[in-house]
Amino acid sequence: MTNSILKIDYPHSIQLLEQMASESIEKGPFTYVNSGSGAESTLRANVSAFEDWHIVPRVLNDVSKRDASTQILGTTFPSSFAIAPVGVQSIFHPDGELASARAAAHHDVPFIASTLSSYSLEEVAANLGNTPRWFQLYWSKDVELALSMVKRAEEAGYSAIVITVDTALLGNRERDLTNGYSPLKLGKGSANYLHDPVFLSRLGSNPSSDDPDVIGKIVDVIFNPSLTWDDLRTIKNHTNLPVLLKGVLHEEDARKALHYGVDGVIVSNHGGRQLDGCISSLEALPSIAEVIQGKVPILLDSGIRRGSDVIKAKALGANAVLLGRPFVYGLAVGGEQGVRHVLKDFIHDIDVSLALTGFSSMIQVDQSIIRKKN
Ligand code: FNR
Repeated sequence: MTNSILKIDYPHSIQLLEQMASESIEKGPFTYVNSGSGAESTLRANVSAFEDWHIVPRVLNDVSKRDASTQILGTTFPSSFAIAPVGVQSIFHPDGELASARAAAHHDVPFIASTLSSYSLEEVAANLGNTPRWFQLYWSKDVELALSMVKRAEEAGYSAIVITVDTALLGNRERDLTNGYSPLKLGKGSANYLHDPVFLSRLGSNPSSDDPDVIGKIVDVIFNPSLTWDDLRTIKNHTNLPVLLKGVLHEEDARKALHYGVDGVIVSNHGGRQLDGCISSLEALPSIAEVIQGKVPILLDSGIRRGSDVIKAKALGANAVLLGRPFVYGLAVGGEQGVRHVLKDFIHDIDVSLALTGFSSMIQVDQSIIRKKN
């Protein structure tokens, strides 16, 4: 099902789109995307941190031709951003990841598929066509299962593995708990597991996605609170794909990431959904950039809402960013067309912001054009 026949007047503002999303879907799924953990102080700080920095633009540079692209680990990011891994997208629209993948393909935006996708990583890949894709891995307690997912991702043309490391346990999301809402327990994140030969071999029965035994097994194996840095060697020994860590906030962990041969770091606090009270991504970025010294790429998410945010993140040391909640609001409002709308606006905003900062190429953006508010 798509909403392509439905004529929707999309607003050109993320706040208004968020409002529309809240009116388009049920309270449970809307709260699931919209809320954060605890008092939601980190959720708010992620956005307000961008307001603590001002761009000081340059003038009279020829900006008639512009290139907002960047290359990361062999992948071209045409507008210096990719789609963040977001699980269980079928709770927002029946087409879920298939809709967002098709929208990403339409705009040539790289896509990161979540372990908890509502469609299998193979189905998501098929809807991406030739668009670059990375796979986000929740490194399961069951090592063989984790490695099996990596192998499937390789076979389906994913060109990097993003291991999310800020999810030893699920964050304390008070609003979801109050609503009694858990997409996982509804079976919405089961697809990758049910397509996995190792997972299937662990089950005795003929499984379906909302079978309580299947869900129980997934909940049991999905996260792995005992993971350590040494476990990274296992994955490095089993794949030639670049491995990035998503959820790095401390500069000493950035140093360790380099030491353990990680190919990239994603500065992220999971959109304020994990540890409430933790540092905002933008605030964490400069000291991480200082440690990384350009040795591996740095990406950033959590709070990216507009084009000037991309300029600010680039200026403070990120090579590219990930777009999260905004595309989900588009998905909730209008499926593939809704995501296309968000991507189109965001790409335009990035282009305008680059020109008005006074640069013709994103690669030229550096710390000389950014200043912290007094
Ligand atoms: C996420 N995020 C996430 N991250 C991840 O590594 N695997 C996942 O399955 C999910 N799932 C997920 C679901 C929903 C509904 C949201 C909102 C987020 C985190 C995501 O990749 C990204 O870090 C945040 O969305 C960034 O914050 P903002 O910019 O969206 O506020």
